[in-house]
Amino acid sequence: MADSTPIGVVTVSDRASRGEYEDKGGPGIEAALARILASPWHPVRRLVPDEQPLIEAALRELADVENCPLIVTTGGTGPALRDVTPEATEAVCERILPGFGELMRAVSLRAVPTAILSRQMAGTRGRSLIVNLPGKPSAIAECLDAVFPAIPYCIDLMGGPRLETDPAVCAAFRPKGA
Ligand code: MTE
Repeated sequence: MADSTPIGVVTVSDRASRGEYEDKGGPGIEAALARILASPWHPVRRLVPDEQPLIEAALRELADVENCPLIVTTGGTGPALRDVTPEATEAVCERILPGFGELMRAVSLRAVPTAILSRQMAGTRGRSLIVNLPGKPSAIAECLDAVFPAIPYCIDLMGGPRLETDPAVCAAFRPKGA
């Protein structure tokens, strides 16, 4: 049996972190991952307010201490003054992968015209890939399904563990000859 891969699941929300609002984003990410992934994994959960230093600290810990090859955030990507998840992501990443934000916005635009309001992005810190999703629960599956075909190969290229996806849900991209 392969080792269980830790995956960071980060909800960024002032109200959910104060307990005023049930966190629907974190469970939404986990439900999507449970549907997509065929290899063993477990969530490493964090719930943080919209404070850049706290988001950065959570991302650094999940990457550097918890060794999560994949960290998925939800919330805080819009234009509201307290939305700082992309800033925190950019600050902790060494490299940005602009294609993730481009594809997720393009797919989301088919569902809602307000998709252009999300500044969601992705980047790498060491051997961790960090992907931002909007806070709306419906956006989580839409965005993750769109980018997941490239995620196992991305993690493989960074020297991380092999993630297997359910071929019925996600036809993972495989380079020729792999
Ligand atoms: N993307 C999808 N797929 N579905 C949505 O409902 N909502 C948009 C956008 N992207 C949405 C979406 C809206 S209304 C906003 S304000 C931005 O995401 C930012 O959301 P966030 O601040 O919760 O991250």
